[in-house]
Amino acid sequence: MMKEMNNYVDAVFCPQDGLLEEVISSINENGMPAISVSPSSGKLLTMLVSISGAENILEIGALGGYSGICLARGFTGKGNLTSLELEEQYAKLAHQNLSKAGFGDQVTYMTGEALGNLESLVTNKKQFDFFFIDADKGNYENYLNYCIQLAVPGALIVADNVLARGSVVGQSEPKRYTETMKKFNFVVANHFQLESLLIPTGDGLTVSIVRK
Ligand SMILES: C[S@@+](CC[C@H](N)C(=O)[O-])C[C@H]1O[C@@H](n2cnc3c(N)ncnc32)[C@H](O)[C@@H]1O
Repeated sequence: MMKEMNNYVDAVFCPQDGLLEEVISSINENGMPAISVSPSSGKLLTMLVSISGAENILEIGALGGYSGICLARGFTGKGNLTSLELEEQYAKLAHQNLSKAGFGDQVTYMTGEALGNLESLVTNKKQFDFFFIDADKGNYENYLNYCIQLAVPGALIVADNVLARGSVVGQSEPKRYTETMKKFNFVVANHFQLESLLIPTGDGLTVSIVRK
């Protein structure tokens, strides 16, 4: 059911996008996993950045730059994207793809374990007005806590894969990260500094406003 709904939404609301299709091809050609956000999730990211007027985005999990392009497309004027990625080679391809899309000068990649880079962003007193969490699921709660620390009041935090392909509501076989996502969703829904909702687009995205 979730798959059919997503196919329908993608077909009706997300017209063919040559540039993003090239990104997907480049990911395949480089033997990287096919785990970019869905077209509708990408479009939602663009719209959220645009609506919020965000200018300083932190992304956790770059892969080949698909979501990075979607985020940067939402900039209404100036804008900077900082993207954390474990793999040097992935960040390199993501930068190439962001450059093709015209955002090469607006993105900075920090490679290695995201937790270490998040700690150094805190130490350097960096602040962001938009966050996108899309890396290793076991660290989502740690990433959330870092994002709250790094957020300006009113910042948005978006996290992907929170439906775990429908398994959080028993719509498919349990996945490795089903219970992790259930717990993450509970934390996001009940956090005293967050006002949140889960949007069932793609593999599910939580969207939270940070209250400080
Ligand atoms: C789902 S993919 C990101 C997809 C990307 N956001 C997109 O939609 O285009 C997850 C990425 O997180 C990276 N990753 C996994 N564990 C990580 C870690 N501990 N620190 C930083 N990045 C990590 C992976 O290398 C992978 O590129």
